[in-house]
Amino acid sequence: MKRRPQTRSTRCLLPSFVAAAVSTTAVSNTAVSNTAVSNTAVIVVAAGSGSRLGESNPKGFVSVAGRSVLERALDEVLAVRPAVQVVIVVPEDRVDEARRMVDGSHVTVVAGGSTRQRSVASGLAALGADVATVLVHDAARALTPTALIEHVIAEVELTGHGIVPGLAVVNTVKRVDGAGAVMDEVDRSELREVQTPQGFPHAAFAAAHVAATGDFTDDAAVFVAAGHRVSVIQGDPLAFKITTPFDLRRAEQLVGSRASDIRIGVGVDVHAFDESQPLWLGGVEWPGEAGLAGHSDGDAVCHAICDAMLSAAGLGDLGSRFGTSDLRFADAAGAIFLTETLALVVEAGFRVVNVSVQVVANRPKIGTRRAEIERTLSALVQAPVTVGATTTDGLGFTGRGEGVSAIATCQLSSR
Ligand code: CTP
Ligand code: MG
Repeated sequence: MKRRPQTRSTRCLLPSFVAAAVSTTAVSNTAVSNTAVSNTAVIVVAAGSGSRLGESNPKGFVSVAGRSVLERALDEVLAVRPAVQVVIVVPEDRVDEARRMVDGSHVTVVAGGSTRQRSVASGLAALGADVATVLVHDAARALTPTALIEHVIAEVELTGHGIVPGLAVVNTVKRVDGAGAVMDEVDRSELREVQTPQGFPHAAFAAAHVAATGDFTDDAAVFVAAGHRVSVIQGDPLAFKITTPFDLRRAEQLVGSRASDIRIGVGVDVHAFDESQPLWLGGVEWPGEAGLAGHSDGDAVCHAICDAMLSAAGLGDLGSRFGTSDLRFADAAGAIFLTETLALVVEAGFRVVNVSVQVVANRPKIGTRRAEIERTLSALVQAPVTVGATTTDGLGFTGRGEGVSAIATCQLSSR
């Protein structure tokens, strides 16, 4: 009659930074949408070749532990709150690839130029007049924390100056001649190693860019050349620029040692027995046992696990995700809910670490099939699932044999 687990087609998963994007507006790759974002824009330049890194791909497209330099930089930019307009500047022959990468988000992709300054100009050309504050950020500073980006924005808004993050120089600095002979020592207390993102009032910065003659090594220099003030704020060691193979190894080690975001969720489900139905519990069928009533197949174990997964990911609960009005889930097997729930959790950037579930019921006797249920459920959530069971000493509805209750906890980790 019903209640056979069905397979579903594999959903195309977006990169996590796209899932994190907040835009609900139609995607435009030619003009920046400003409906769902603030009047601050971040231009992320990634159009360089990365010659010093020496990889076959341009630097923005080189992997740092499984995600490209550009994706990692965007992860941090897209986490800025309130959300900002984002333009990424990539080599001309990478525009299509980058557009596919950000498909479904509000990120605009444009082609860069032969120098960094030209690439910044391409990014500026994609901005609307509504933009009040603009930041320019090197994709190569892939691990720059969201907090630093937010600090730069806040300082530009507060002061109206150009704002650049910088670090004190820690090594003694010497001036040398062409042969390497020391001429004198430079007072390092006056020096700062500056980073990105560098932020500016938009109109003044755009005008400074148009007026710039000559090649400047950073955006602050363009702004200062036009007579504007630039202030340095405290930078962050994590905003280092990936330039050499050593830097890439350092970035990979930092990402590898980064503590994952661990989340715990809980879920409970109850269904009453219905003798006229076959029993599905824990994703397996129980011939000869009384079934469970419900809009779906009544598999309280699967449902409790779904709720635990959704709660851990902050995605609501089973009722709000797969309501009883959704005919696709009428009589659906618990396995289908688990598969759909796993897809949501993965799209939100998590993987399941483990699930623990306890069945509270007189019947069926879980112990006889525990290993089979654990295998079935583990395959469905792609992580270890352990199953326990208890009775309630004759107390309550489970004690009276009126139904089954299940309690699940789930641990998720950011991917
Ligand atoms: N950049 C750019 N367009 C260029 C040159 C550089 O958008 N024509 C970007 C880079 O992609 C990088 C940032 O500017 O994110 C800082 O530049 P740099 O670290 O020098 O990167 P590359 O120029 O790619 O590297 P290299 O100088 O080693 O070739
Ligand atoms: Mg360069």
